[in-house]
Amino acid sequence: MTDPQDLYQAEILEHDENPRNEGRLDDPTASARVSNPLCGDRVQVDLQIEDGVIRDIRFKGRGCAISRASASMMTELVQGLPADEAAELEAKIQQWLDSEARMPPEGLERLEPLGAVRAFPSRKRCATLAWSSLTKALNLPRP
Ligand code: FES
Repeated sequence: MTDPQDLYQAEILEHDENPRNEGRLDDPTASARVSNPLCGDRVQVDLQIEDGVIRDIRFKGRGCAISRASASMMTELVQGLPADEAAELEAKIQQWLDSEARMPPEGLERLEPLGAVRAFPSRKRCATLAWSSLTKALNLPRP
């Protein structure tokens, strides 16, 4: 029987190698970049927000497989979400990673593979880096 950790790792590597929505938007309504002070890696997020809803998102950055996989998963999860709802996700994910719950909060079940970082506390930041960029972009004044 396959170890769940191997499945998690395979999913993280698949997102790292085939990232969804990587790149920049031509005319984003909000953008932000956040760096990980522990390693210098960074993730930039561009958003297209219309009527308070995230219509499009791209990420670009330099980072480890976990940070890239998390960014890739994030772009799939937040498309079509109200911006206010998306702004609360980083805190929910951080809370989940700091807990012992195996499953992420409702609506974020697809992030389960990221729970593997609990075994390496310094890597939790890798899993939340893109989400911090999202939070920062959502909290900037809108044009
Ligand atoms: Fe730099 Fe993971 S080691 S973001």
